[in-house]
This record gives sequence, C-alpha cells and structure tokens, in this order.
Amino acid sequence: MATPAHPPRPALKGEKVGTFAYLTIKDRLPQIVAKVVDHLYRTYSSLEETGVNAERIREAKVVIEELGRLRYEMTTDKPLTPIPADNQPDHEVWNRLLATEFPGATWFSATWLFSECYMYRRIYHHFAVTTQWRDFDFFAEQKESTFHASHQAVGVLADRVLALCTEAQSDKDPAAESRRVAFTELAQASLWGNRTDLSLLVNLNLADIHSIQSGTEDIADFVVVNQLATWWDRLSQTPADQPADRIDLVLDNSGFEVFVDMVLAHWLVVAGYCGKVVFHCKAIPWFVSDTTIADFHWVVDTCRDRFQAAQITDAAHLDGLVTLATQWQAHLDAGRWELQADSFWTSPYAFHHLPSAAPALFTDLQRSAAVVFKGDLNYRKLVYDCEWPLTTPFPEALGPLAQPGTALPVVALRTSKCDLMVGVAEGQAEQLDQRDSDWLVNGKFAVMEVSLPSSD
Ligand code: F6P
Ligand code: MG
Repeated sequence: MATPAHPPRPALKGEKVGTFAYLTIKDRLPQIVAKVVDHLYRTYSSLEETGVNAERIREAKVVIEELGRLRYEMTTDKPLTPIPADNQPDHEVWNRLLATEFPGATWFSATWLFSECYMYRRIYHHFAVTTQWRDFDFFAEQKESTFHASHQAVGVLADRVLALCTEAQSDKDPAAESRRVAFTELAQASLWGNRTDLSLLVNLNLADIHSIQSGTEDIADFVVVNQLATWWDRLSQTPADQPADRIDLVLDNSGFEVFVDMVLAHWLVVAGYCGKVVFHCKAIPWFVSDTTIADFHWVVDTCRDRFQAAQITDAAHLDGLVTLATQWQAHLDAGRWELQADSFWTSPYAFHHLPSAAPALFTDLQRSAAVVFKGDLNYRKLVYDCEWPLTTPFPEALGPLAQPGTALPVVALRTSKCDLMVGVAEGQAEQLDQRDSDWLVNGKFAVMEVSLPSSD
C-alpha cells in the first residue's frame, strides 16, 4: 500500500528543479502568503483603534508576524514543523504524518502535495488560534469579487438551465436524446467552470459562453480524454420512477465554478436522476478559491439578491437567476441538496486513503450513484500526485478506488493545471506537444475521466 511519502510512482516534488511543483513552491506559494498578509493589513488598518478593535489589531499584527515567519521558512527551505493544537480536530493527523512519513523533511524535499496542503493548513492555524480572527476567511474577498465579475455569464446559464429543465420535464424518458444533449452541455459547463481559478472564464462574452454551452467542436477539441459517455450510459439507465438515492459532487472553486456545478446538480435532481445531491465543501479556507459551506450559501444568496452588492445598474438579465436561486434555496431547505465539509478533504491524504483514513465518509460515498471530483487538486489527490506515465489507464492510477470492495463510481472533471495526467492515448501527448507546449499546465486542456464499478 502506498503511503504519503511513497506514492505508487515517484512523488511530484518541489526539489525537482524546473517542474511545476518547483515553480509553485518557489514562486506561487510565497505570493499567496504575501497576499493574505496584504489583505489582513488592509483590513485591520481600516479599523478605528477603540474597544474590541484594539484586540483585533493586536492579534492581526501577531498573525502577520507568524505569516512572515511561514514565508521565510518556505523561501529558505526550512523543515516543516508540527502544527500546534487549534480549533480543528485534524492537527494530530498532520503531526503524525510529519513524524512518521516526513521526519526532517523541508518545503522542497517533502512531496509537493504534502507541502502545498500544509501551507494552507498553517495559514489557517495562525488565524484559528486568535479570538477575533478565527472565523475570518482570508480568501473571501478574492472569491467574491471574481463572482461579481461573472454576472453576465451567470444570467445566461440560469436561463439556459431553466429551459433545459422544462424540456426534460416534457420528455420523461431518462435516455431521451434531448436529455443526453442537455447532460453533455451541462457537464461541459461544469468542467470548464474549473478554469475560473485562473480567472479565464469571468471575462467571456455571450458568444464564448454559448460555445461552451453547446459543446462545439472547438471546445471538444480541448478535452484530452473524454469518457463522459460512460457516465451518461449509466445515468440514462436510471428508472424513470426510481431515481438514485444520491449523487455526490466533491467541489473545487467557489464563485463561477460552484455556480455551474449547482446548475448541473439542479438539472440532475429536476430531471429525476437522483433524489439528492450531496455537495462536499472545504472545512477551512483552502487553495485560495475553494468552496466552504459559507461560500456556497453566499453564492446562492448573491444570486437570489440579483448581485445587489455588485451594484449592477441593469439587472434585467438576472430575472431567471432569481427564479433559479429561489429553487436552490428550496432544494437546501427540503434536503434535496445537502452540504458537508469533512476534514478529510483538507487533509494531506491522497484519495487512495479514503477507505482507511475517513471510513464513515467512504461508506457514505459507496451509496452514491456517482462521485464527481472537480478540479486540479482533487485530480492530483485521486491519482496520488506522482509520476505516472501519461498513458496509464485511469482505473490503475485510482488504486483502491477502482478495486473490488473499495471501488467508487468516480467521475473526474478537471482542467489541467499541473504536469500530471493519466489515460492519454498512445501518441496523443506528442501531438499535443506540437500544438501547445504548455498543454498540461495552462488550464486550456481538460479531462473527463470515468471509472464505474460494474452495476450488477
Ligand atoms: O498549485 C497547485 C494546483 O493544483 C494548481 O495546479 C492549480 O492551479 C491550483 O492548485 C488549484 O487548481 P484547482 O482549483 O483546479 O484545484
Ligand atoms: Mg481550487
């Protein structure tokens, strides 16, 4: 069995100079810490130094000092240190793995997956031990402003899914061709929503959105591995009067991405494919743009409020959105949509360890008709973030999650933002290298990979 320091193939590591992991730890992560410091500084500087604010300011200065130390440790490649107790139950998991798997390991010599996840856990820790900032989401400002900027696209998609739901209700056959087309369109919207952590989608015009919606050749041409039909084949066998108990969405980014995930989830429920959708959020602010439970509610509320905070002067294009978001709130109230935030998703573990490290969560997921994993980090964790040959079959890279007894119905929708991919056909990588030398890391190419345990 693989362990965090010993994945099934050599781990991606920051110490491999020139790799995406190296550049991330060297440049991107220190910048992310600096941005948190800047945000906290601006936030506390705007406070008047009276009453409880005096304590807020004092604590903010301590947090900034700690984050400065964290940044220094990272940029000078110091050893990773234990995480002291705080308000999260998982610090022992981190410290046990540090002691057993990574004794003496530094930022660059530990696995990339461990170091990068550790950074977000450490940032959180420094806020969590304060009295005034423990609930402060230091990434919320970025998440919110990105979503505000996407209101045009959001309005178009809302109208579109409402129309597709009406269409689905007029043809109850779960395998109807019109439903297959709608499913493909919405699954692709959910996939391409994953580009938003690179802020690529928010400035799209209506024509671009339409091209994504209709799944034109252009877009299809950027899906390196497309196994969506395998999921549809299973989904379309759902009896019309007997929806599956649940479908699970392991979310990635907040804002536009989670919005398109909600759009897909809405259609799955309304068209009768499942009784409920369980959304898996993050328990702490994570990888800058990931969705917490608070973010999820914020997106629904922002849609119901017609983006009031964004001060849009002409909000007529948001009428459909208000209708849709009101239905979403009803899904939440009635339990057709459920939100969870298990600490496993913000642990350092790759998902090969799901059955043993989070047995209750795993047993729950085994009851699901499909567990959809969104985004780049979830993909890295699914395939254990190591040097698989590109042509490795997806089920092989999933390890236990594709083996008898511990298999899950896995669907991965991910735009590729690091040099790791499996399931690529022989000769395909060479062709892609010719087309775009950055195809693995620039977020323009994607995979839709599916591994389903047999249904009997
Ligand atoms: O920094 C590592 C990484 O996985 C990148 O490859 C990617 O840009 C980012 O984190 C998160 O991407 P996503 O939001 O799709 O998981
Ligand atoms: Mg993310």
